[in-house]
Amino acid sequence: MRKFYVRTYGCQMNVYDSHLITQLLIDKGYEQAESELDADVVILNTCAVRRKAEVKAVDHARFLRHKGKFVVFVGCVARERGEQLLRDGSADAVLAHRAYSKIPDIIEKSQSVVDISLNGKLLEFTDVVFRRVKTGFSEFVTIMEGCDNFCSYCIVPFTRGREVSRPAEDIVKEIHHLEKQGVIEVTLLGQNVNSYFDGRMDFAELLDYVASNSSVYRIRYTTLNPRDVSIKMLRVVASHLPRLTDWLHLPLQSGSTKVLRDMRRGYTKEEFIEMVQNVRRILPEAVITTDIMVGFPTETEEDFLDTLDVVRKVEFDHAFTFIYSPRPKTRAAMWPDLPYEVKSARLRKLIDEVDRIARQKRERMVGRVFEVLVERPSDKDPSLPMARTRGYLPVVLDRWIPIGEIVKVKITEIKGLTPLGRVIK
Ligand code: 5AD
Ligand code: SF4
Repeated sequence: MRKFYVRTYGCQMNVYDSHLITQLLIDKGYEQAESELDADVVILNTCAVRRKAEVKAVDHARFLRHKGKFVVFVGCVARERGEQLLRDGSADAVLAHRAYSKIPDIIEKSQSVVDISLNGKLLEFTDVVFRRVKTGFSEFVTIMEGCDNFCSYCIVPFTRGREVSRPAEDIVKEIHHLEKQGVIEVTLLGQNVNSYFDGRMDFAELLDYVASNSSVYRIRYTTLNPRDVSIKMLRVVASHLPRLTDWLHLPLQSGSTKVLRDMRRGYTKEEFIEMVQNVRRILPEAVITTDIMVGFPTETEEDFLDTLDVVRKVEFDHAFTFIYSPRPKTRAAMWPDLPYEVKSARLRKLIDEVDRIARQKRERMVGRVFEVLVERPSDKDPSLPMARTRGYLPVVLDRWIPIGEIVKVKITEIKGLTPLGRVIK
């Protein structure tokens, strides 16, 4: 069993963990397979945030085992389902985040093990982070993980455990290690990055420290908790523009104060709007994106209209939209779920509104010049590159520019929701 493949579902934190797991296995002499079917061992790094993602991963695990692969089931579903995954034939080994260091040993011995305890060390607290080999010009760096908020719909506090922050020195050391390999953009990751506290520095201080002690072209950070956006943090971002990005991902979830209370989000509709006003005052060019959920159990039609109202008032540049999905162990799962037709009708209306506003905002980009970083071939026409503005908005360029290069573009038109840019330098 020498060849492995890591498949990742879910958020960027899982992507980061998968990189570290890959490094751990390469260090032990394992070989990365080109595809799952070419591998002896498949590590499935899974997401439990909605039921759909979870079911997909479990089904896939069964398929792989049927094909004779040794399946190591890790991530949030591993933590949630634990031993059951072994019993029902979905996995050969089941490990949650704090047991990832054991993966090489388990593969070596083909062990059938379950370890989902919260007692071990997270990989980002081990030396593997300083040996990691870059996978591109843009890399993730986890700064904190876990969550203490217990929003009533969310499984994450149960899967990832309590908040822990990495020492600021280690974060900068990891960024230096990536810089030396030519990485030009880093994204600081955490479930609530602005809850960061390593015993000395809070998130604003960490941002200042990272920006002052690294030379990467761009520093991003996600996800922010709207409740904890401080003026101090916004001022730090303003003082380090453009290296620190003024792209803020601020998950609204709902625009109704009543639903927000039932979700235990810790802010009202008015407080969210006021927070955004502060952002725009201190960072006038800020790009603001969000996550919104429809169909929370106590959401009425009127509450949903409040959500649309906030969408109009805030003018999000982009929103990820979701249908509420009841999750095990969460408080909201005890309330009756709304009919699917109600939820999906609201989702359609929400997407229409979000897109209408995003299109209006994109139109305002026409004629303006942006500095962009070329990310990858565009989906629609791979002969043209897709690049990102400082605010993380995608732009399709009019001619090929190598990946990882920085150019200036003038926006000529908006196609669908995507700005097209003419390269001017
Ligand atoms: N159902 C639907 N969406 C959810 N999210 C979190 N929990 C649930 C759930 N139970 C969404 C939130 C969060 C994003 C990562 O996933 O909008 O911000
Ligand atoms: Fe999914 Fe949340 Fe776990 Fe990320 S932390 S993998 S989004 S459940």
